[in-house]
Amino acid sequence: MLTLSYANCLSNRVGSHGLDPDRLHPKGEAAAAIAAITAKLNKSRGTNWERWRELAFEPMRSEHLKSVKQAAAACSGKFDTMVVLGIGGSALGNIALQGALNHPLYNLLDAGQRKGPRLFVVDNVDPVYFGSILDFCQAQPGGLSRTLFNVISKSGETAETAAQFMVIRDMLKSKFGAGHSAHIVAVTDPAKGTMRQICEREGYTTMPVPDGVGGRFSVLSPVGLFSACMCGIDIDALLTGAADMDKICINEDLTKNPAAMLAFLLVELGQTKGKTNHVMMPYANSLYLLADWYRQLWAESLGKQKDLKGDTVFAGFTPIKALGATDQHSQIQLYREGPNDKVIGFVELADFTRDVKIPTGLGVDAIQYLEGSTLSTLLSAEKRATEFALVESQRPNYTITLPTLDAYHVGQFINMWQIATAYAGQLLQIDAYDQPAVELGKQATFGLMGRDGFSQHLDDVKRTLGPTQHIIGQ
Ligand code: PA5
Repeated sequence: MLTLSYANCLSNRVGSHGLDPDRLHPKGEAAAAIAAITAKLNKSRGTNWERWRELAFEPMRSEHLKSVKQAAAACSGKFDTMVVLGIGGSALGNIALQGALNHPLYNLLDAGQRKGPRLFVVDNVDPVYFGSILDFCQAQPGGLSRTLFNVISKSGETAETAAQFMVIRDMLKSKFGAGHSAHIVAVTDPAKGTMRQICEREGYTTMPVPDGVGGRFSVLSPVGLFSACMCGIDIDALLTGAADMDKICINEDLTKNPAAMLAFLLVELGQTKGKTNHVMMPYANSLYLLADWYRQLWAESLGKQKDLKGDTVFAGFTPIKALGATDQHSQIQLYREGPNDKVIGFVELADFTRDVKIPTGLGVDAIQYLEGSTLSTLLSAEKRATEFALVESQRPNYTITLPTLDAYHVGQFINMWQIATAYAGQLLQIDAYDQPAVELGKQATFGLMGRDGFSQHLDDVKRTLGPTQHIIGQ
């Protein structure tokens, strides 16, 4: 089981910048409030937008594992390259799983050393980036014949994914005609939406993004499971880890429930101590992309103008990603001496799957202390030293420790944060599942791209942003 160590968030470590340990007293007000939220979440789980909470449990678990494994088996051996097309919640989980659980140079390995096809998750419409990946696929032996595209879009109307899909469909159709459908696997709404209609018309293999599972809570559904399974990640263990984490997060006792504790600490430090910037700083390169996934979850779920009563609250915290030890040489100066407005969350591995020994024999005094040690010992010492230095500057921080890096513990990590987000939404009294502020930009894009019915948005953009002025360099 992963652990959460939060002593450095308390005032006996970081003075007035931390929480009074009495706030955590089992008979105190906070413990009672958390117990009430836990009871509420335990009741509402599996309903409305909280259906994600059941993804690791029956019947959804078996249904999804079966359809994902069937689809993966049907593709097995046929493709050397797989390209995921999606954005936001339809991409970040895939990227994080791949980064955490596969070889750091996975795509560069020979086919015999990889557990599946190369994987590219293209979550942008940058023409140079996207075009280059398509060029790469075409230039490989077998070209497009050996390339699988996994389009992920719950709605099917997301402009970026729709545009990418239209490009690859056209390319595949001109090469394979009706046979192009063998190169596309879609993950979309099981019953409705634009992508569903397209899939039915074109006969693509599909898997569901179930009802009540929003994009940023969908990594444990076929959204994240299919590409993971294709690349040899143990998706059973991933879901088992998530389920085991869930089982301890139904505990009403704040001190035994890591998701509740994380949410409580971060919300309380944010609201009462001005710590509104929440840094996630893994001390392992493989965990760095999980910080990107966390960034969306924490930002899009909690950043809300209105609370549940409709009052203006401007809720939310700014999630920041950093990497240890790399960012000790970039960010720590700010974190220790700049505004005391952050909580730094370390993520560490108790055990790396390999180590590199530092040889003896150089014999230079200044760096002699490194001789005979290992890189993991150095990295752990650096993490511990940074933790110490932050406490010395009264900067609250916590540490999440994964015993080792495997699918089981990554499943725990993911679900702990998802459940923590549900708690934080309750503590802030906001809707953690909508994203109303994303809509205006989408509608303006439609207007700018000439979509029928959105000319008003085009006019709005022109009125607000024009005429062009205050530009230097023209
Ligand atoms: O978390 C979310 O809801 C978003 O980030 C969506 O996942 C993203 O906008 C993509 O949406 P869709 O899957 O409908 O294409």
